[in-house]
Amino acid sequence: MWPAVLPEYFTTPIYYVNGKPHIGHAYSTVATDMLVRYAKVRGRKTRFLTGTDEHGQKVERKAVEEGLSPKAFVDRLIPDFVDAWKAMGCEYDDFIRTTDARHEAFVAEMWKRAVASEDIYLGEYEGWYSAADEAYVTEKDVENGRSKETGAVVERVKEPTYFFRLSAYGARLMKFYEEHPDFIVPEGRFNEVKSFVKEGLRDLAVSRPTVRWGIPVPGDPEHTIYVWFDALSNYVSALCDGRFPEGDAQDAPNFGTFWPPGGRAVHVMGKEITRFHAVYWPAFLMSAGLPLPTQILAHGWMTVNGEKMSKTAGNFLPPGPIADAVGTDTLRYYFMREIALGQDGDFSHKNLLARYHGDLGNGLGNLLNRMVASIVQKSFDGLVPAAGEITALETTVMETASRASDNARKHLDAMQPHKALEAIWELVAATNKYIDLSEPWKLAKSEDGKARLSTVSYTVLESLRWLSVMLWPVMPTKSDAIREQLGLTPLMPTVSLDLWPTVWGGLRAGTKTKPGAALFPRFDEDGERAVMARMGVTLPPKDGAIAKAPKPKKDKPVSTETNETKKAEAPKTDKPALPEGLIGIDDLMKVEMKLGLVLAGERVPKSDKLLELKIDVGEPEPRTILAGIGQHYEPEALVGRRLAVVANLPPRPMMGRVSQGMVLAVSDANGLSVLSPDKDITPGVRVK
Ligand code: MSP
Repeated sequence: MWPAVLPEYFTTPIYYVNGKPHIGHAYSTVATDMLVRYAKVRGRKTRFLTGTDEHGQKVERKAVEEGLSPKAFVDRLIPDFVDAWKAMGCEYDDFIRTTDARHEAFVAEMWKRAVASEDIYLGEYEGWYSAADEAYVTEKDVENGRSKETGAVVERVKEPTYFFRLSAYGARLMKFYEEHPDFIVPEGRFNEVKSFVKEGLRDLAVSRPTVRWGIPVPGDPEHTIYVWFDALSNYVSALCDGRFPEGDAQDAPNFGTFWPPGGRAVHVMGKEITRFHAVYWPAFLMSAGLPLPTQILAHGWMTVNGEKMSKTAGNFLPPGPIADAVGTDTLRYYFMREIALGQDGDFSHKNLLARYHGDLGNGLGNLLNRMVASIVQKSFDGLVPAAGEITALETTVMETASRASDNARKHLDAMQPHKALEAIWELVAATNKYIDLSEPWKLAKSEDGKARLSTVSYTVLESLRWLSVMLWPVMPTKSDAIREQLGLTPLMPTVSLDLWPTVWGGLRAGTKTKPGAALFPRFDEDGERAVMARMGVTLPPKDGAIAKAPKPKKDKPVSTETNETKKAEAPKTDKPALPEGLIGIDDLMKVEMKLGLVLAGERVPKSDKLLELKIDVGEPEPRTILAGIGQHYEPEALVGRRLAVVANLPPRPMMGRVSQGMVLAVSDANGLSVLSPDKDITPGVRVK
C-alpha cells in the first residue's frame, strides 16, 4: 500500500540497445507511465526515469557485425527508443544512458565504495556466460549448451575477474526482506527470491577482462565493470548528476527527495530480471552504504498471438505502427486491461480489435457520443443542463460511480490496473444502461419530458467527468478528449491535490460542451482490413479464397489440420459453392458442441484468469477443461451448472496443465457470461 505523502520515483528497466524496441519493452514502459500518472492524479510529487543499457559484450558484438564503433552503433539506435515512448504516450522526466558521463562517474564511485567495504577481490572465473542475458550461468542451469532459464546460448569462459563478496550478504538481505514484506510484488516472485538467497549466495564476478566496451575498473583499466553492476546503478546515478550522495545528500537534491528515506522508489521490470534487482542491486547498495529501493514490481511476459517473441518467429513487433493504427490509448488500454500486472499475458491483434470495438467503442465512446454529440446539442443548445429531482435511477448511477472510484483506487494502490479498469467499466456499463432505461430520446420529444431530460443529461455528463479522471493514468489522450467535449480543461495534476473523484456534482451547469470526433470510430470490414494491414497483418482476401482453392486429389481426404488449409481448400462436391462468408450445415457439424455438467472446479495457481473444471460431457470419464473465466466466476459457483462446451479440439497445454476442450462464453462491456441452458438438459447431448 502507498504511504500517504512521500514523493514517488518510478523506473523502467534500462533497455539494451542491440536492437529496436518492441511491444514487450513498450509494455514495461507503459506500465510504469501508468503508475506515475496515477501517483500524479493522487497529488504525489513524482519522477519517472527510463533509459538505455549500452555497455557489454552483446552490444560490442552487434556493433562489430555492423562495422561500427560501439558508441556510433548505440547512438544510432537511441532515437528509436525516444520515438517509441513518445508513440506510447509515455512522459518521462529523465532518460539515462549508461554512456552518459554522469553515470560513468557514479559507477566508478560505487565500485570504489565496494572496494573500501572490502567487498571486491581479484580471483578467477571459470564457467558459463550468456552474452544474450549478460549473465553468468551455473553448471546446473546449463543444458545442451544453453541456459535452462532463458534458452540463450552459453559459452565457456576462463578469465581473471574481480568478485563481489555477495556470499557475505545473505543474512542481511533476508533480514531486509523480513522487515519489508512488500519489497517484491507479486508475492510469488518474492518467495522465489527468498529461496534463492536461503540456498546460499556465491560471490559474483563483477568485471570482464575480455570485454572492452564498458566502464574501466578504477585502478585496473585492463578490466571493465560487469554490465549489471554498471546498469543497476543507473537508478541512483540519474538522481545524482555525477556526484555521490553524501550524508544528507545536499549535493544531489533529487536523490534526497526521491530515494528512500526521503521518497519512495519503485523499480518496474520483467520477471526474468527480478534476481538482479532484488538480490544483487540491494547488496551493491548496502556495500556502498546507500539505502535500498522501496519496491520491485516484476511483471509477466507477453507472447504475441500465443507465440513467444523470437527472431525465428519474426514477431518482435514495434509498438509504433500498432499505436498509429488503433491509437496510442487503445494499445495502452489493451496492455493494462488484458494482462494482469505481474502475470504473463498475450498480445493478439484480434483481441485488440475486439477490445477496441467492445469496451472502448460500444462502451465508452458510445456514452459520450449518445449524450454530447446529440442530446445536449439538440435539447440544451450544447450547454450542460442542471440536474433536477433525483430518482432511484440517478441514485444507482451515483452509487455505482462511488463504488467504481473506491474500487479502482484500491486496485491501483495495489498496482492491479486490470482490476481497476474492470471496476471503472462498471460505471461505463451502468451509465449506458441508465441511458437505455431513461429513454432520453423519448423525453426530448415532449415539453413535459424536458425537466427529466435535464437530470438524465447531467447525470451522464457528470459520470463522464468522473470517468475522464479515473481513465487518465491509462488513457491520457482520450481522457483529455472527453474533457474537451464536456467543455473542461485537460486534467492538470498538481502536487498535493488529490484529484481522484469522490464528490458528485463537480460539473457546472451552463458549461459549454464541444462535440467532437467519435473517440473510437467503428471500422467496417474494409476498414478493419486496412487497420490490420497498418499493423503488419494481412488478412486472407475477401473473395477468391474458394475460387482459387486447389482441387483436392480424389483418393485423399481433405486435411483439416491447419487453419491455412481450412481456408484454402474447398472439397469438390456436386453442391454449388456457397456465397462467401456462409458455411454449410456440414461445416457447422464439424464442431462438436456439447452440453457439459460441471462436477468440480478450482483455480489454476499463479493465474487469475484460468479455472480448471471437471466437466461431464456424457463420456465415461469427465473432461478436464481449462477456462479463462476466473476473473468473472468463482469455481465453486460453477459446480452443478450446465455449460456449452466444444469437445473436439486437440488437447491444449496451458500453465503446465492440459485442457481437453473449451467452455463457450460471451462478453461485452457488461462482463462475461458462460452459455447455459435454462432447463436441466442431459450432459453430453449436442448443441445444435
Ligand atoms: N538491460 C537489461 C535491464 C537492465 S535494468 C538495470 C535488460 N534489457 S532488455 O532490453 O533485454 O529487457 C528489458 C525489459 O523489457 C524486460 O525486463 C521486460 O521488462 C521487457 N520485456 C522484454 N521482452 C518482453 C516480453 N516479451 N514481455 C514483457 N516484457 C518484456 O534486460
